[in-house]
Amino acid sequence: MSMNVVVLLYLVASVCFIQALKGLSHPTTSIKGNVFGMTGMAIAVLTTVALIFKLSQNPAAGMAYVLAGLVIGGGLGAYMANKVEMTKMPELVAFMHSMIGLAAVFIAVAAVAEPWAFGIVAKGGQIPVGNRIELFLGAAIGAITFSGSVIAFGKLSGKYKFRLFQGAPVVFKGQHMLNLLLGIATLIWGGVFFVTESWTAFYIMLALSFVLGVLIIIPIGGADMPVVVSMLNSYSGWAAAGIGFSLNNSMLIIAGSLVGSSGAILSYIMCKAMNRSFFNVILGGFGGDTSAATGGAQQQRNVKSGSADDAAFLLTNAETVTIVPGYGLAVARAQHAVKELAAKLKERGITVKYAIHPVAGRMPGHMNVLLAEAEVPYDQVFEMEDINSEFGQTDVVMVLGANDVVNPAAHVKGSPIYGMPILEAYKAKNVIVNKRSMASGYAGLDNELFYMDKTMMVFGDAKKVMEDLVKAVDNV
Ligand code: TAP
Repeated sequence: MSMNVVVLLYLVASVCFIQALKGLSHPTTSIKGNVFGMTGMAIAVLTTVALIFKLSQNPAAGMAYVLAGLVIGGGLGAYMANKVEMTKMPELVAFMHSMIGLAAVFIAVAAVAEPWAFGIVAKGGQIPVGNRIELFLGAAIGAITFSGSVIAFGKLSGKYKFRLFQGAPVVFKGQHMLNLLLGIATLIWGGVFFVTESWTAFYIMLALSFVLGVLIIIPIGGADMPVVVSMLNSYSGWAAAGIGFSLNNSMLIIAGSLVGSSGAILSYIMCKAMNRSFFNVILGGFGGDTSAATGGAQQQRNVKSGSADDAAFLLTNAETVTIVPGYGLAVARAQHAVKELAAKLKERGITVKYAIHPVAGRMPGHMNVLLAEAEVPYDQVFEMEDINSEFGQTDVVMVLGANDVVNPAAHVKGSPIYGMPILEAYKAKNVIVNKRSMASGYAGLDNELFYMDKTMMVFGDAKKVMEDLVKAVDNV
């Protein structure tokens, strides 16, 4: 295979990736987007394998390594993707980012150790100045991505006792100053490597970057985690692009830049949705103090609770019903039952809409995917900015397994989620909330909505409650 064909195939793969991003921007085109992404990746991988075969001095040994990597990596990836629950996707994504970061570090270390093996320089020669910058950037961003993603993985899984892996932010005095000094020290040691090509400088720079990755992520917690995931996504792309320059691999540069820039755009969109400053996120440490939220026992307060029959009575007497799905709905896998309930209400001439918060659930677009799975018509699904003005005129809002995204604490100064836009369910004439208990949501906050006079709590697993509601509506 000639180099011209390789470049052409890489170009085709790049176009596929751009089409994939375009397709993934809307639920109706997302399957097409995924097909483009898979096709592009298959072309990129097969072309790279052919390229290794062509360039390798010992093709048989080289291919054995590549095939072993493909089989082990591909096998593990397929197994995990098949096994992972939708609600665990953010952890999986954080894990993948950490692997991309680590791969960038390993490639940079190998390229600094034996640059001639990568065609960067003739044996015994010095690494050119330009390559030193690329290697430094790729390695530093890769190390930050790796350690930051490991912390994000721990925080998102919420299973580990280790303090740094817990959802609540870890903050201490002088944190920003320390991050700044570490950042400057990383640049200085990177500069020493750049000038002297010293291994010691390279290793110190790497060690500082690993520490910086941890320090950037630990002060972030609670409801701010989605922004962290998309930010690390962006970092992992830039790390890959940096390494792509060192390896002179146009595919890696293009794919890395696409991931880096789309991740940055997603981070920006998420920041806007969460009313957070983009630069604070990039530099780390924008999470609020959640001590008030997570610490201390919650007061025992009275709430109004009702049965599925009570809820059915309210719903069937309404003209307009808005459903707010959240993480709990995904956990219960109650989307099909909700759709059935909505159909029954519509048969009675009731207008039913779904209101989606941009960070509802545990991954961007989680609720859209969930509702699409149940084939809820897209014209019934509304984004926050399009539906928020309607809540005041809505007869019944039904909050299903959602908590933080409807928490009016976002309007209270000093609250850890202060400033985050919410779905203004509290403005509706009546509110039905389904969850299993009075437990807090992801941000660890109590929710005033649950104690309002117009709110009726229907406790229980979302799927069971929805199925009961379908029967109860039939009997009204
Ligand atoms: P949450 O605030 O996490 O609340 C979910 C609620 O669902 C919980 O209070 C829980 O209460 C209830 N629940 C759990 N299992 C249930 C079941 N089987 N049946 C009924 N209810 C159940 O969810 P949200 O309102 O969707 O907000 C999402 C949160 O996750 C935000 O803070 C967001 O920042 C964060 N986050 C989002 C993402 C992305 S990208 N979307 C990523 C990471 C973090 P009970 O235990 O009492 O049932």
